[in-house]
Amino acid sequence: MPFDMPPPANGLNAPQVSATLARLHQDARQDRNVLLRALPAILTGYLKARSTFESAEPYLKDAYISVSPEFGQLMYLAALSAGARNIVEFGSSFGISAIYLAAAARETGGRFTGTEKDPSKAQIALANLAEAGLSRWSDIREGDAMESLAPLQGPVDFVFLDGWKDLYIPVLHLLEPKLAPGAIILADNIFSFRKTLKPFVEYVSDPAGQYETTTLTIGSGVSWSVWRGKTG
Ligand SMILES: C[S@@+](CC[C@H](N)C(=O)[O-])C[C@H]1O[C@@H](n2cnc3c(N)ncnc32)[C@H](O)[C@@H]1O
Repeated sequence: MPFDMPPPANGLNAPQVSATLARLHQDARQDRNVLLRALPAILTGYLKARSTFESAEPYLKDAYISVSPEFGQLMYLAALSAGARNIVEFGSSFGISAIYLAAAARETGGRFTGTEKDPSKAQIALANLAEAGLSRWSDIREGDAMESLAPLQGPVDFVFLDGWKDLYIPVLHLLEPKLAPGAIILADNIFSFRKTLKPFVEYVSDPAGQYETTTLTIGSGVSWSVWRGKTG
């Protein structure tokens, strides 16, 4: 390559990646309307002692509920600096966070595996990864992550937990025998689902346990854990 040519754009600056992310973050602004439509159900659910989340779930089919650009960039950099080659996500929705993580996998020579139980979301997430030019380094497993991640090959270097909150602990337990030493586990919505996620936070923060954890005041609260346990 001649010296005066710029290096190929890569990472999040690759034109296909940045254009797809810009389009998706713009589209994700429609979530406000989805949540407004869900409001009556949330209020009725409140009277019946249902959680906000339980009441809103039928409406969330159309919602991105995605990470912010800042948090996406943070995950990209975390995965990149750790040289994470096997990157796994619980809850991919339409694929916004998946693009940040698959872009990191392309840089590290690794692979990103997402999971999404809603079939139409899973298909759209795959199409969005293709639009970003990242299909070769990524996959979205359709169906319940508890089943779709069971056959996953380890060692797993990086996990992002963002599906329904009652499954953070079961999904983590499922992956634990496959975690690489020093694997990074990021989990979203620690503040917005404070009560539901209390057992999860206690689990990953237990000084006698197998993680070291901190919680970041970013978005709706993100826990960052490092696996210090024994890999099976
Ligand atoms: C908060 S959204 C994920 C947003 C996505 N990580 C992003 O930032 O673009 C949560 C998603 O998890 C999916 N989900 C919930 N439970 C799941 C399960 N058991 N297996 C796979 N996906 C699940 C939901 O359908 C929903 O699309």
